[in-house]
Order: sequence, then structure tokens, then C-alpha cells
Amino acid sequence: MTVHFIGAGPGAADLITLRGRDLIAACPVCLYAGSLVPEALLDHCPPGARIVNTAPLSLDEIIAEIKTAHAAGQDVARLHSGDLSVWSAMGEQLRRLRAEGIPFDVTPGVPAFAAAAAALESELTLPGVAQSLVLTRTSGRASAMPEGETLENFAATGATLAVHLSVHVLEDVIARLTPHYGANCPVAIVWRATWPDQRVVRATLATLEDATGGERGRTALILVGPALGTEDFDESCLYAGDYDRRYRPVGTNPRFPEGQE
Ligand SMILES: C[S@@+](CC[C@H](N)C(=O)[O-])C[C@H]1O[C@@H](n2cnc3c(N)ncnc32)[C@H](O)[C@@H]1O
Repeated sequence: MTVHFIGAGPGAADLITLRGRDLIAACPVCLYAGSLVPEALLDHCPPGARIVNTAPLSLDEIIAEIKTAHAAGQDVARLHSGDLSVWSAMGEQLRRLRAEGIPFDVTPGVPAFAAAAAALESELTLPGVAQSLVLTRTSGRASAMPEGETLENFAATGATLAVHLSVHVLEDVIARLTPHYGANCPVAIVWRATWPDQRVVRATLATLEDATGGERGRTALILVGPALGTEDFDESCLYAGDYDRRYRPVGTNPRFPEGQE
């Protein structure tokens, strides 16, 4: 018996991996975080599967469901939105399962930041403009931010920021970022990326608040940084005609002669 933690993707039901889909189809028990996981994914469950929305359950109740399945020798598909490596509450479940000696594995999913970047048709790391992406959030009722992980500290680097779980405090986010990026810095909000009601607003830090028209629906990502709004960046060396590289040796004395590992 194994608990399969599966990244369910950002919303569109076809943005799950083939492995994730096949695991759902093979498991007689499916526990899904109903607040964000698309219900259409449950169509992959086998007939007669026990399907439980864990949104209203406590951690103890979720672990009790898993222990019951374990005792019956039934595999469990455990679905969380996006990818499991960020804000999934997987860590605390894995700790309990390790303590109980219950086997598990993890299948990644498409995270919200990637879905939002796709909606914006943007590369978030442009040569010479931004080479780092910070996935962050502001303090919430359930989770305070560790000291040092402030918007101001991240903004001081000039990296692209993907600010999660924060659209309800948008005015505060704008006020904290503007001194670092400047009022003209490009910014975008993507609500419910890949869902049928996806909405995209592009603006600058100065114009963002008005551009939203007051919408503060919570499933939204705020993306900030110069990479979001420029055509003025270097081309990557990787594809430059004269760039000598292992997969495309150039010149009479290539750095990686053909056949040499
Ligand atoms: C609890 S976190 C889950 C993050 C998820 N594990 C991931 O990989 O992206 C929920 C937050 O992620 C962002 N989010 C999740 N799905 C999204 C979507 N489809 N569009 C925009 N933002 C989304 C929002 O900021 C939301 O408040």
C-alpha cells in the first residue's frame, strides 16, 4: 500500500502529468484538497472509489483516512493543487506518515507560477534583466513569514517576484515594492490561471490598483519585475551562431571536440 501525493496542476483538468492521472485511476481511495483541485480530475478515479474532499478536515482526520486505507491495503491518491513543493501542506503529512511507517511517493505537478507565466506568454528570467525568480507570499493568519523573508528584502535584489496568497492585501504589496522597483515597474495579476474564468491584468506598480477594478478574488498570483514588460534584453548565448558548445562545436578548435564527453 502506498500514498501517492500528486500535484494536480493549476486548474485546467488536462494539466496533470500522465503519471498523476494513471495513479488516480489505479487508487481505490482519493483524497483531494477541494478548495483548488478541479473536480474534473476525479473523473479518473476508478468506479466505486472512496473520494473524500479534505478541505473541511483537520490533519488528524486526514491521517485517519490514510490509516484506514493502509489497514485495508488500499492505495491512496492524495491530490493537492499545483505542485507539492510549495504551500501544499505535504510536509506535515509526510512527517506523520514517516512516523506511522506508511509508504508514500510524490509526483510533481504544474505550479501556479508557471501557469500564470504561460497566461502572460512571458519568460520570467530574461538575459541581462532578471535571472532569478522568487516564489513568496505575505504573512497570513495561518502562517507568519520568517524574519528576513520580507517583500522588501526580495525586492532589493530586483529579481522577478511571484507573490502568492496576497492579492487581498494588494495595496500593501504595491506600497512595499514601489520604493525598490519604481512606480513604472511592470506587474501583472493572473486570477485562476488556466481555469475557464482566468483573468489577466497587466499594469505598472503605479496603475495596478486602478487596473484591477477592485477585484480581490483570492486565487491569484501577483508577478512583479522588469522582465515582465521589456523587449530590451540580450539574446541568450546558447543559440548564438558563434557560441562553441558541447552540442554544437564551432570553429577549427572546438572546446568540446565531437565524440569527447
Ligand atoms: C495554497 S497555495 C498553492 C500553491 C500551489 N501548490 C502551487 O504549486 O502553485 C494557493 C495560492 O497559489 C496561487 N494559485 C494557485 N492556483 C492558482 C491559479 N490557478 N491561478 C493563479 N494563482 C493560483 C494563489 O496565490 C493562491 O492563493
